[in-house]
Amino acid sequence: MKSRRGFVALYPGSFDPITHGHEELARRALAVADRLIVAVASTSTHDKHGLFGIDERVRLIEEVFADEERIEVKSFEGLLVDFARQEGASLVIRGLRAVSDFEYELQMAQMNRELWGEIETIFMVPDVRYSFLSASLVREVARLGGDVSKMVSKPVLKGLKSKLKKAK
Ligand code: PNS
Repeated sequence: MKSRRGFVALYPGSFDPITHGHEELARRALAVADRLIVAVASTSTHDKHGLFGIDERVRLIEEVFADEERIEVKSFEGLLVDFARQEGASLVIRGLRAVSDFEYELQMAQMNRELWGEIETIFMVPDVRYSFLSASLVREVARLGGDVSKMVSKPVLKGLKSKLKKAK
């Protein structure tokens, strides 16, 4: 059995970009794990119109959690279960905002368990302030000139501004 001191959980996702919702959930997850790896996936099950490159996402998340030494940020290619095994992490944390998330999350959790029987997924509920928030909506609102300053941290806001300026 792994000692409680070294219990590591994975928080996987696309994080394009990381929002306050993700951030709050990751900090909350430290109540159940000693260390958390925020795992930025190169391949997402959701087909998305990406904005930030994988390395840019990692860098932004590192900036957001610069104050928290128990959170580490890594990117991975291929299957989540393979990455989890490689990192010695058998607990996956995912956020559930609404019932609409549930079907997709359940499918993923079951598929992951089918692929690796030792993996466990736990779902955490973000603060109600963030229940409407998604990275895809943040991207869309920012692209259309809306104010997302209450939805993302300062480094992300800066990143969004420079990204969208370059895109013009
Ligand atoms: O933030 P997202 O896009 O909802 O996160 C989805 C993610 C990245 C967790 C999922 O697509 C994933 O685990 N991708 C890695 C590839 C993989 O293992 N696919 C099978 C998942 S059942």
